[in-house]
Amino acid sequence: MAAEHFRSTPDQIQLAFFVDGSWDRSTGEGAFAVVFYKFAPRSKDDGKCVEMAWRMDPAIHNNYAELMEIAVSPRNANMTATPPFNLVKAAETLLENARRLSALGESGSAPGVNKDEESLRRSIAMTAKKIAFETAPAIDVVKADWVVFADAAAWNLFMEWKAFDLIPLDGSISIADLASALSASESLVSRIANLLIAVGKLLPGPAPGTIRHSRISLLYVSSNTVSALASVAFGNGMKPYARWPEYFAQYGRQEPEGQRHTPFSYGWGHPDLAPWEIKALYPSYASTFTKAMKSRQIVGGDMPVAGPAALYDLSWVGDEAAKKEGPLVVDVGGGLGQLLKDVVTAVPAMTPDRCVLQDRKEVIDEAREVGDELIQQVVMMDHDFHTEQPVKGALVYLLRRILLDYSDKLATGILRQLADALPDDPKARVIIMEERLLDTPVPQNCIVDLVMLNLGGKLRNEKTMGEIATAAGLKVIKYYAKPGDPTCVVECAKA
Ligand SMILES: C[S@@+](CC[C@H](N)C(=O)[O-])C[C@H]1O[C@@H](n2cnc3c(N)ncnc32)[C@H](O)[C@@H]1O
Repeated sequence: MAAEHFRSTPDQIQLAFFVDGSWDRSTGEGAFAVVFYKFAPRSKDDGKCVEMAWRMDPAIHNNYAELMEIAVSPRNANMTATPPFNLVKAAETLLENARRLSALGESGSAPGVNKDEESLRRSIAMTAKKIAFETAPAIDVVKADWVVFADAAAWNLFMEWKAFDLIPLDGSISIADLASALSASESLVSRIANLLIAVGKLLPGPAPGTIRHSRISLLYVSSNTVSALASVAFGNGMKPYARWPEYFAQYGRQEPEGQRHTPFSYGWGHPDLAPWEIKALYPSYASTFTKAMKSRQIVGGDMPVAGPAALYDLSWVGDEAAKKEGPLVVDVGGGLGQLLKDVVTAVPAMTPDRCVLQDRKEVIDEAREVGDELIQQVVMMDHDFHTEQPVKGALVYLLRRILLDYSDKLATGILRQLADALPDDPKARVIIMEERLLDTPVPQNCIVDLVMLNLGGKLRNEKTMGEIATAAGLKVIKYYAKPGDPTCVVECAKA
């Protein structure tokens, strides 16, 4: 969040921050949200925040009110003059949005009518959560986390056992039949299912001792890519988190620097191994991870890659195709080819035979096996991106969701291999696409950063991305990001 406005008087220091929205300075068009702070100077009142307020352009979408709440709350923690939570106002917002949602339901399925439904639902849930957090007795908030621990343990185990797959999509199953299909004791399955029913993740079936799916548990069915993401959230997140105290006691209270001796390797009981070596010991987890990376639900997973909706429009590469021979695009660490598939679909001039997919051997083997017709036509290559890039002179090297896994030193090394492979063509680019560190902490962005901490990596912002690019012999042509959106694209050329 950048300071847009700063004024200092003998009595007061005023700061205003742009929080969200889009706004064209030259035309004054758009809608945006701003938060103001007024501080007493240190000499007067020890620099305390004496007033805080937020203001929005009235034209802005109603849902931004909740973003404002998020933007403001982390700062409240450090301020002595915290404005009280306005329960009535929050409840009114909730009611107003509940009426809008209800009206959407009544308006039938006319095309386009439900376009905003997901963001409206999200906004309602966020306000309701804020109300619950602010109104519940403090002890209840603390205890609620204990339920989350058990909830996560229960759905993770049921996913591992594929128990959710055994529940009919329409209908119910008895606990006895489920236990029998799982070769587990009925009483054990019943106790775990009870917790999932208690939190609403499963629903009781029509007869006693039966269960059925809820709208949430359907996402844990193994054919849904969200289940793979959930497994990764547990394996890369929960498992290491649980051992943080011992890890930091052993290695010191500092961030890990390499790929070994990370909270991840420690949590999995193999402190000397790097993530891919650990995954090699657990092929089913490795395969789940690869599947998770294909999920459209991951940050940036449904990101358009060409046209006006794209954060970075790759169409220009298609325009260059006829003017240049050889490889156009190399997707470095490209997994099963999910990004290349989107690219060649969106930019038909980038024919698959001019695109290279690189990854670790086991992933390329899997891509050869499971890749669809389009992906089978790209050039597939085993390659370790820490070593010299074998494809020289491509127009574009793509690195999506790679650098965040690594420390500055290793990330710089990966970039340097690409800087060295770039041709002497002023149009040639290294394009980094990944989740960025938002200026204002929001939970979903913070958890990605902490999972990266587990792996020895980190989320970066414009400044820190620029630092590693420069250290690798690149220059940043442009940093693309939309306010409030965690995805960024960093367009780099040879320095
Ligand atoms: C987080 S995934 C991202 C996959 C893909 N780029 C995407 O955006 O969906 C990281 C990828 O890097 C690959 N990878 C890890 N270490 C590698 C290495 N040393 N060389 C090449 N690929 C590697 C992994 O196998 C995995 O496919």
